[in-house]
Amino acid sequence: MLVLENVHVGYGQVEVLRGINLEVKAGEYVAVIGANGHGKTTILRTASGLLKPWVGKVTLDGEDVTGQAPYKIAQKGLIHVPEGARLFPQMTVQDNLAAGAFPRTSWRTRQKNLEKVYQLFPAVAERKGQLALTLSGGERQSVAIARGLMAENVKLLMVDEPSAGLAPILIDEVYKKIAEIRKTGVGVLIVEQSPRRIADADRIYLIENGEVRMQGGAKEVLDSKEVMQAYLGG
Ligand SMILES: Nc1ncnc2c1ncn2[C@@H]1O[C@H](COP(=O)(O)OP(=O)(O)OP(=O)(O)O)[C@@H](O)[C@H]1O
Ligand SMILES: [Mg+2]
Repeated sequence: MLVLENVHVGYGQVEVLRGINLEVKAGEYVAVIGANGHGKTTILRTASGLLKPWVGKVTLDGEDVTGQAPYKIAQKGLIHVPEGARLFPQMTVQDNLAAGAFPRTSWRTRQKNLEKVYQLFPAVAERKGQLALTLSGGERQSVAIARGLMAENVKLLMVDEPSAGLAPILIDEVYKKIAEIRKTGVGVLIVEQSPRRIADADRIYLIENGEVRMQGGAKEVLDSKEVMQAYLGG
């Protein structure tokens, strides 16, 4: 469903991604791992249209979407939950969720989607009237993912480091939710620092210096010497 082909992009004059090839098929669970600063977030930003590739192509369901506006790409079902669960701090949980619906979404559809995400996230439903700034880190991350699911027709949810800054027990919660989302048929592309969190991924890409250093099945990649080296700097 999502294909990145020979993507080169960077910031200012500095090239960060240097020929990335990456694919997520419909309903697949794919993880992107790698050490800090090697370009993982930049991959998601390029896929969702926040960055326009200097070279290369982004395809969604066979359609070339390279350089299209982020809202258009989101409308096609590719949703990006950014690093750090950025919520509107002074707004309630429910208003934060409503902000995830597309602008022209009818009131009725919005209600229906709210009910859907509250069912998936009962703990979020309990806090719908609470201001986002008063949520715990784990709650905030759940709301950010739930907000991504407020879009219509979500085909692929890209989540950037859902475990960042969370206690291990909360990380388990977030990953349980991601497993539930996958059961609904939505594909998931996740960026993760900790390799052991994504041992059940269908495929893993190891990113190093803006390139795919290695890709393959979870076990194959996680047991590889490349991963050891990337994380131990060996
Ligand atoms: N807006 C920006 N302007 C300039 N340089 C940037 C910008 N965003 C990222 N970079 C640089 O691009 C490189 C890749 O950043 P990116 O955020 O993609 O890494 P990452 O793999 O997601 O790292 P982390 O694991 O720390 O989140 C880094 O060297 C970073 O400093
Ligand atoms: Mg990042």
